Amino acid sequence: MTTPSDLISQDLATYLKSQEEKSLLRFITCGSVDDGKSTLIGRLLWDSKLILEDQLATLQADSKRIGTQGGDLDYALLVDGLQAEREQGITIDVAYRFFATDKRKFIVADTPGHEQYTRNMATGASTASLAIVMIDARKGVLIQTMRHSYLVSLLGITKIILAVNKMDLVDYSQDIFTAIQTTYEEFSQKLPFEEVVCIPVSALKGDNVFHRSPHTDWYHGPTIMGHLETVDILSNARQQPFRMPVQWVNRPNLDFRGFSGTIASGTVQPGDKLVAPSSGRTSTVARIVTFDGDVDSAETGQSITLILEDEIDVSRGELLSTVQARPTTADQFEATIIWMHDNALLPGRKYLLKAGTRTIPAQVSELKYKVNVNTLEHLATKTLKLNEIGICNVSLDQPISFDPYRENRQTGSFILIDHYTNATIAAGIIDFALRRADNIHWQSVEIHKEARATMKGQKPFILWFTGLSGAGKSTVANMVDKKLHSLGRHTYLLDGDNVRHGLNRDLGFTDADRVENIRRVAETAKLMVDAGLIVLVSFISPFRSEREMARMLVEQGEFLEVFIDTPLEICEQRDVKGLYKKARAGQLKNFTGIDSPYERPDDAEITIEGATQTAEEATLTIVKTLEAQGLIPTS
Ligand code: ADX
Repeated sequence: MTTPSDLISQDLATYLKSQEEKSLLRFITCGSVDDGKSTLIGRLLWDSKLILEDQLATLQADSKRIGTQGGDLDYALLVDGLQAEREQGITIDVAYRFFATDKRKFIVADTPGHEQYTRNMATGASTASLAIVMIDARKGVLIQTMRHSYLVSLLGITKIILAVNKMDLVDYSQDIFTAIQTTYEEFSQKLPFEEVVCIPVSALKGDNVFHRSPHTDWYHGPTIMGHLETVDILSNARQQPFRMPVQWVNRPNLDFRGFSGTIASGTVQPGDKLVAPSSGRTSTVARIVTFDGDVDSAETGQSITLILEDEIDVSRGELLSTVQARPTTADQFEATIIWMHDNALLPGRKYLLKAGTRTIPAQVSELKYKVNVNTLEHLATKTLKLNEIGICNVSLDQPISFDPYRENRQTGSFILIDHYTNATIAAGIIDFALRRADNIHWQSVEIHKEARATMKGQKPFILWFTGLSGAGKSTVANMVDKKLHSLGRHTYLLDGDNVRHGLNRDLGFTDADRVENIRRVAETAKLMVDAGLIVLVSFISPFRSEREMARMLVEQGEFLEVFIDTPLEICEQRDVKGLYKKARAGQLKNFTGIDSPYERPDDAEITIEGATQTAEEATLTIVKTLEAQGLIPTS
């Protein structure tokens, strides 16, 4: 018999061709090294004879050297020793391994099983269509088994192999196996699995992995490999409705306009009717152009350029879809998100949401609860920390087209990105669109900002004072307010301490509450600008992100940041309200500068040296700047 390795060395082209025709199963293994996960993967790789020669040599050497299995080969070393890959810009390590048998090709995602690696497992599971959940027969169903099962179900995996491992250590006891099977089936009924196949195995000895075990004559189901080779995986994505996010509009000359992208799901043929969901305009596919010329049809995963019969407006990011099953277009949805970053989620903060080829500002408008991944309990929370999973409402600056994840994994998922660091901070799956905005429309009003401002004879804008508590923000803001008032300007001063007595009286000083505090005051300031006023805002506003968000709410040139830069030591010496003393004594938690951060602005329009400039001097500087910029008339 020729093994795949022989084939590779004999004729690479024939080998690759034979590989191309085989179906591909992507799966994930869940469990810890102690459960024998690496041993199982190692054995699958080994028995499929596709281990490259140099890996094999290393394995034999390592096994002799480390020798946890006497003189035998230690299959776990094979897996643990391989280098991890990085998945598309997400700095999360998931090791993918490729192997093949005569019947199928396989890619297995191998991720650590501990709770602190939840995000790694989520990444690995997101492309898999089957999960092997490993159990140590001596220990039975554990809390981690539930966590792993919940996670893979969340990521849309519906086929499970429950590998009850180490059967050799429990004398291949049918009773033990059946008890574990019963417990797991009872638990997993709560999860939307289509098929759970329980298999008694010894990864170490090879029982029921590739070969049927002589020790389990009471077991009549498939071996692990038997099941992996035959499980029905008719590519889900291919049967789904056609979806293609437009990556770019290809217009080399006036006669050619094509929409290029990679098909996310479904298939397409000339003659198919497609819709551009954001405008609702439809057209028919005239040609499908690929790198190799025109084709009669294209399927999921192919990169193509579509030429439509009509000139309809389709821009980059549009999710071209079949008219028979249109995606949802909305700017709010409920989602389940897995937090992947050390900096916790702050509802109300603007993040970038990337779905398909679109990236748009978005915020978590409401965090409903988080899930205890071990017990599936719902817990109230105001934030999500690294590896936590929460259910929330997400609100976007513009509508996007999508499908619920349960219907389409490709078009129902997204990631959240931090504006400043560009780091991926969360992965999300869309549960359903929120329709609450559907019946709320913009009411057109006839008196606009310009009319109101003209009547007041001024340009409206926001002067945003930021700085530590005791920096002198309120003193300076108050003095500038008086000066502007005396100059006949129509102003209003929003001061942190005052607003916290009314509008924001429900908010404290956690990071999450401060984000909400600033969100509300920024929205208020925006309304006041709309009313034609000059608005002075004096809040610590410690986070760059929220100051930026406030800036983006109004038009260019209508926002001036004034940084009252007074060193912490001086604020603390002054301690006008005695709060620093309390904070140092531990009587006041989350105090800015002490145990809560202050992010200095690096591009404020005006910076005042609070240590050296008097309030009068600061006021003069600010008023002069306003004059110089033409925001108020020169006095
Ligand atoms: S912000 O951080 O959310 O922008 P804000 O400006 O509204 O703060 O309120 C700050 C004022 O609240 C301070 O000037 C101080 O008088 C008072 N305060 C009470 N507790 C704190 C705290 N833990 N941190 C900062 N300020 C506090």
